[in-house]
Amino acid sequence: MKMFGSIGTRSLLFGVHQFLWHPFTVWLAWKELYGPPSWNETVCIAFHDIGYWGKKNMDGCDGLRHPEAGAELVGRMFGEEYRQLVLGHSRSYAQIHKISSSKLCWADKLSIKYELWWIYLPRAWASGELKEYRAVADQTGFIDKNNSHRTWLNKLKEQMLSQAKEEGTKVKGVELELSA
Ligand SMILES: [Fe+2]
Repeated sequence: MKMFGSIGTRSLLFGVHQFLWHPFTVWLAWKELYGPPSWNETVCIAFHDIGYWGKKNMDGCDGLRHPEAGAELVGRMFGEEYRQLVLGHSRSYAQIHKISSSKLCWADKLSIKYELWWIYLPRAWASGELKEYRAVADQTGFIDKNNSHRTWLNKLKEQMLSQAKEEGTKVKGVELELSA
């Protein structure tokens, strides 16, 4: 699959961050958390991960900088507020650069609710992301490499949904149904 470019490029073309499907699930999650997004917010959702293009890893030094390209683009179109919205969508990026996580961060996390294992895992496998994610999960003690991919995905879902739920309860009037 390496003929399709770096792991970040493959992720956008047919992997976990597939450029049509992933933003669609984030849009649904945003709607659930905050109500329907505005046009500007929808554009931010559409382009938030474009910075993965050409990235040599997902969670390493290179991949961690992925919010910058999308932020630059929407910043030029709509201004600083939207630049920050995209820049703060990655919690790791926000922590490293001492900026606040944005509303897009929680919608991004909740979006995994709309992923079914048989849609998600084949994409993650084909792009090569699965190998990286499992290695990182093993190293950090999140889940041992001997567990199945489906067990890993279930645990990942649980973690991401509880983070989104935590934040969701701070957003007035939000009721989350996290039984996915
Ligand atoms: Fe995303």
